[in-house]
Amino acid sequence: MIISASTDYRKAAQAKLPPFLFHYIDGGSYGEHTLKRNTQDLAEVALRQRVLNNMSDLNLETEIFGEKLAMPIALAPVGLTGMYARRGEVQAAKAADNKGLPFIMSTVSVCPIEEVAPAIKRPMWFQLYVLKDRGFMKNVLERAKAAGVTTLVFTVDMPVPGARYRDMHSGMSGPNAAFRRIVQSVFHPQWAFDVGLFGKPHDLGNISTYRGEPTKLEDYIGWLGDNFDPSISWKDLEWIRDIWDGPMVIKGILDVQDAKDAVSFGADGIVVSNHGGRQLDGVLSSTKALPAIADEVKGSLKIFADSGIRTGLDVVRMLALGADCTLLGRSFIYALAAQGQSGVENILDLYEKEMRVAMTLTGAKTINDLNRDSLVHF
Ligand code: FNR
Ligand code: LAC
Repeated sequence: MIISASTDYRKAAQAKLPPFLFHYIDGGSYGEHTLKRNTQDLAEVALRQRVLNNMSDLNLETEIFGEKLAMPIALAPVGLTGMYARRGEVQAAKAADNKGLPFIMSTVSVCPIEEVAPAIKRPMWFQLYVLKDRGFMKNVLERAKAAGVTTLVFTVDMPVPGARYRDMHSGMSGPNAAFRRIVQSVFHPQWAFDVGLFGKPHDLGNISTYRGEPTKLEDYIGWLGDNFDPSISWKDLEWIRDIWDGPMVIKGILDVQDAKDAVSFGADGIVVSNHGGRQLDGVLSSTKALPAIADEVKGSLKIFADSGIRTGLDVVRMLALGADCTLLGRSFIYALAAQGQSGVENILDLYEKEMRVAMTLTGAKTINDLNRDSLVHF
């Protein structure tokens, strides 16, 4: 059954990628309940159809931190993007750039900042994880600044990685993982040549550049657990605020009190997110968490939302619930894995078309016209 381009690209990505990579992307944590709720809750948000309003002239543009976005979408930070397509961060960043949207590079990307930022015209955004080695933070922020990064997205919902049991079954981690990955690659020759062979080096480019030696990826999940820092607190954010003078967005907020604290701290934005259902299983979907957060902090900072967005209609739903902008995670990654840069450009074109239809039929001529009145029963 075809539900969306994301569903089609998901299938194509599954066919192309070795299972250890597909399941790392596709999976969630523990019983994957929050992962499921993310898409289900969003699909259940009923749009309010309005007709006969002369909707011939729509404007999807928005402005965030002084930057024009062709539509309220940015590509979310996704670790190991360069494993899903050859030098995948560069391809995804170029696609976003061509469509007038920001690309947010993950700390744990394959390509380093210095490889991606010069490949695009727009300024890149960068997502920061706190590693136990605090020297890395200072180093990477300096490099981001030097590469013209404007916005810093600080992710706070991964002080420890949630258990992704699929990874243990798929060969991403678990017994004989390295051997199983080689066997899987043999059965996915297109990926093995295009990415496995010609897409090297395969390591965490930002961290290798800092350490001056390759970051071994044999045990990536183990690496995350060993290097991420469970001690992070608002103090770390203050420290970063002192050295980062650009806009700062806190990613991974699900609670009203945390959102209010982000305002008191002076954050420029928050991302309402449960990390795509990959961290604490059982927490609310972003769809359910967003309205109460927006009621408290809308207007005090920019509200981004992600987790579960698969179509342009979902973007419209998130905006109606109170977001100023959205992030796409798996949706663009499936397209990238299936078809590289052109796949990402294609899915972004489809998002635009879907948004145009949804805005036309809800009577919203601009992004700012989308609000709770665009929904039924709210
Ligand atoms: C992520 N996400 C993520 N977030 C982040 O801040 N830094 C990161 O390195 C990663 N890595 C990562 C890898 C993979 C494979 C996925 C699927 C996700 C979370 C991501 O930014 C975003 O919050 C979610 O993907 C949003 O949910 P959807 O759109 O995938 O449902
Ligand atoms: C993940 C991390 C890297 O979700 O953010 O796998």
